[in-house]
Amino acid sequence: MPKKTLVDLHGADLRGRVVLVRADLNVPLNGAAVSDDTRIRASLPTLEYLARAGARSVVLSHLGRPKGKRADEFSLAPVAARLEEALGTDIRFVDEPCGDAVTEAVAAMEDGQVVVLQNTRFLAGETDNDPKLSNAWAELGDVFVNDAFGAAHRAHASTAGLADAVRARGGLAVAGHLMARELKFLGDALESPERPFVAILGGAKISGKIEVISALLLKVDRLLIGGAMANTFFRAMGLETGASLVEDDRVDMARALLEEAGDVLMLPVDCVVVDEIEAGAAARTVDRAEVAPGDRIGDIGPATRQMYAHEIGAARTVVWNGPMGVFELDQLAGGTRAVAEAAASAADGGATVVLGGGDSAAAAEQAGVVDRLTHVSTGGGASLDLLSGADLPGVSSLSEAD
Ligand code: 3PG
Repeated sequence: MPKKTLVDLHGADLRGRVVLVRADLNVPLNGAAVSDDTRIRASLPTLEYLARAGARSVVLSHLGRPKGKRADEFSLAPVAARLEEALGTDIRFVDEPCGDAVTEAVAAMEDGQVVVLQNTRFLAGETDNDPKLSNAWAELGDVFVNDAFGAAHRAHASTAGLADAVRARGGLAVAGHLMARELKFLGDALESPERPFVAILGGAKISGKIEVISALLLKVDRLLIGGAMANTFFRAMGLETGASLVEDDRVDMARALLEEAGDVLMLPVDCVVVDEIEAGAAARTVDRAEVAPGDRIGDIGPATRQMYAHEIGAARTVVWNGPMGVFELDQLAGGTRAVAEAAASAADGGATVVLGGGDSAAAAEQAGVVDRLTHVSTGGGASLDLLSGADLPGVSSLSEAD
């Protein structure tokens, strides 16, 4: 069911009104310094739009997993400072996620102003999706904008709970610009992809991606597998995997997927192996049938890169999640780089190329191709859940479009 978005609201819904904005400001910190501000920058279009419309934006977000207790290392204060810099206007940070200090700060707001509240996960009610907490926030304003795509797979008090509470009081819960953009690119790719539609899945484990693989097999023309998850498939095929990472308890599942997949699923035909996954380890390329007992598979080989690049080059829609190897090590980064380059060339040629997941985004960044891709998702778990066809509580809780 399509959901209302920020652009469906009229000026009168926003001017002078308190608007609760759930952003995903869960950014990596190095001490108190923000080490990657991608999610902060991705939140700007919604906040700038609201400021221009004269709304009073109250921003809620989690940071890390402080488990319901106040903990200085998870304070949103440095993130709020970085957001202020990026927005280029003064914002007020309230060192509490809820309560009197918040109520007072909101009462003192002016049109167009932004207030950022302290980490919502300092309160246990957040991850418990406690309706009392959602209601306390809902009392502050009657418009809720959920822009936290990265947290859309969580049913928490400041996400789905707050949307429910605002709607129950007769208010509106809408998708922000970032949320709408994520749903447009990832959702459209799945619902009505221009074909050929190629998905690339990498990363260490198939366990978290079984549902995604099953769901994608029904939708895509090709599913290219890389990363350590390929090893579990190799084991299911009876191939030697040496000392490589294999999920023993998923081998049967991998076998069942192989039977289901026909020729849609493609696996590496050659690999780069090392004795130890460590900087400086000598790397060799071997056929997938020639992996020796002591070998550790660390990347897809050159023949696979060529084969995958050919499939990606022919695609009109590409969805990519997860690196092809241990891209943090130079000698094991070639496969991920080759796929990144092929994906970027496909996008240059007019294909829609969507990248999801923190690791893949970092890999694309390292390969220097981010700006050439159609869309880089800010969601890791959320983008995987969306690809697997799961319901995202942060989305399903929003007001329905007219
Ligand atoms: C993320 O980083 O994927 C989101 O912010 C969600 O964080 P979480 O996995 O701690 O819920």
